[in-house]
Amino acid sequence: MCGIVGYYGHQNPKNVIMSGLKALEYRGYDSAGVAIFDKGGVKRVRAEGKLEKLEGQLKNVNFTGHTGIGHTRWATHGIPSERNAHPHTVDGVSLVHNGIIENYVEIKNELLKSGAKIQSDTDSELVAHLIARSLKKTKSLLKSVFAVLPKLKGAFSIVVISEEYPDEIVAFKNGPPLLLGVGKGENIIASDLQAIVPYTKNILYIEDNEVIHVDGKEYALYSHKGKKIKRKVEKIQWNQEKAEKQGYPHFMLKEIYEQPRTVAQALQPYVDLEKMQLKMESLSPKYEDILSKVNRIVVVACGTSYYSGMVGEYLIEKLAKIPVEIELASEFRYRQPIISKSTLYLFISQSGETADTIAAMKLVKEHGAPTMALCNVRLSTLDRSVDLKMYMNCDSEIGVASTKAFTSSLILLNVFATYLGYLKQELNQKEYVEQIRRIVDFPSLIDKVLAYNSFFKSTAEQLKKFKGFLYIGRGVSYPIALEGALKLKELAYMHAEGYSAGEMKHGPIALIDKKMAIVVVAPEDDVFEKTLSNLEEACARGGQVIAIGTEQNEKMKKLALHYLSLPQAHWSLNPILAVVPLQLMAYHVSDSLGYDVDQPRNLAKSVTVE
Ligand code: M6R
Repeated sequence: MCGIVGYYGHQNPKNVIMSGLKALEYRGYDSAGVAIFDKGGVKRVRAEGKLEKLEGQLKNVNFTGHTGIGHTRWATHGIPSERNAHPHTVDGVSLVHNGIIENYVEIKNELLKSGAKIQSDTDSELVAHLIARSLKKTKSLLKSVFAVLPKLKGAFSIVVISEEYPDEIVAFKNGPPLLLGVGKGENIIASDLQAIVPYTKNILYIEDNEVIHVDGKEYALYSHKGKKIKRKVEKIQWNQEKAEKQGYPHFMLKEIYEQPRTVAQALQPYVDLEKMQLKMESLSPKYEDILSKVNRIVVVACGTSYYSGMVGEYLIEKLAKIPVEIELASEFRYRQPIISKSTLYLFISQSGETADTIAAMKLVKEHGAPTMALCNVRLSTLDRSVDLKMYMNCDSEIGVASTKAFTSSLILLNVFATYLGYLKQELNQKEYVEQIRRIVDFPSLIDKVLAYNSFFKSTAEQLKKFKGFLYIGRGVSYPIALEGALKLKELAYMHAEGYSAGEMKHGPIALIDKKMAIVVVAPEDDVFEKTLSNLEEACARGGQVIAIGTEQNEKMKKLALHYLSLPQAHWSLNPILAVVPLQLMAYHVSDSLGYDVDQPRNLAKSVTVE
């Protein structure tokens, strides 16, 4: 996580760096800082808390130089505080860092033994010490970075400046993303495109184990061993959206409300309405060749994207009869998975930058198996690396809690499963067209469930009094139960567990009493009656039920304290309808508790550390 920016140029570095940090704040928001050249030296300003704190502190601070760096932090080593905020400055060397230095304990011990005065609890500061020491010998910022790199273990990126070299910036990437924007007489280095595109669309992608050296208007790219690399600067297409709340109190609520449109928008490139068929050419020119050879699919993802993959497992197995496994990206690569070339590896990620997902994808590529991404952020690392790609196409998701990216993924998984079903002749022409028709007609149904906004607004006070929440569901509703629980945990910091309804009697049922809310997701489908029996068992033990079912299901209504009805839909599309009330519930409970809905504590939108 963490957002990093470095700038050399003719514009006011403070303005460019701060606008970059604003674009990157979703990567971490526990503290922030800048170090910018001023009157022959470097002036550093840091603040604990959100970026607006730093902004306030910088209001009347001016800088005379052309060069500077900035950082917005998501703490790994050391609590959020000003002394742990970046940049870290040691003997005129200032450094910002994203990622983890795994051997920091050994480095720290060696530095302490040799008399270094360490000011913070971070692993980052230690790198600044090493570079500052090396600089005394090498008299070159670039050479000192090359000299220090072999001593560092881990996945990390750094950007460094030194008081002695006012026009220079040196950056290194191994893991967390780093890009160079090449402007007219200016160079900007940043974690993400969003920080660069207001200034230039000319982008140099920095790959792992590469060093970039900015020297005024010039720049050079090197391997970590010092070999010069030639790479073309790419001119990218980018429509900068304005991150505006458009009258909503929070981005999250706006994004929940956008879902009828974003689900339709996600679908649009993949459906030929005139011919009533799916258009998959944009996945890759070789899509048919790759997909016709696939006999198994492994979905790899984290968090909410993992839950969409779980829904995908049900969809693809039922509609296309292709075996699917779903893997947590953080586990996948550490258990030496057996990677087969006839398996398609599908990576789901809103950001396309999640460190574990990227690492899993790289491992699969090393084995030569086909890869596919379902992601939202175009030109992200994932997007640039895979063989086949589908886009969530839901515009920027700003709220840290994922909502519209989830529902876009679910509709795309419906499209993909339907396409595979037809390709593998598991769906005949009639079934194929029927399923496309359902998918196309679906988005407007989401409007109906948005009406639960006012219900949850008025019941939030009551809901927040429960001691805990057990979310249950079966079949495609099981991942929705997991997603509902995740939303409440991350936003309202309340105890919430997602469980398969059938598993309750194997343990979690012991949690149930009158203070425990049971949120059951049970639209009418082939497992409805089974879920109902599980619900009866929960009610018999005093659990207070919030039920989500299809239309006016009298059996469920009888058991529920609150009953929320969903419009009639096909089983494959129910998850999209069912998740919306759960998003609204988490939103309102969190808001009524006075929490920061868009930037919940301890989280970041893009998780670029392991
Ligand atoms: O960008 P990704 O989809 O790869 O992100 C994965 C998770 O970090 C993300 O879904 C996270 O769980 C969200 N905070 C959930 O709301």
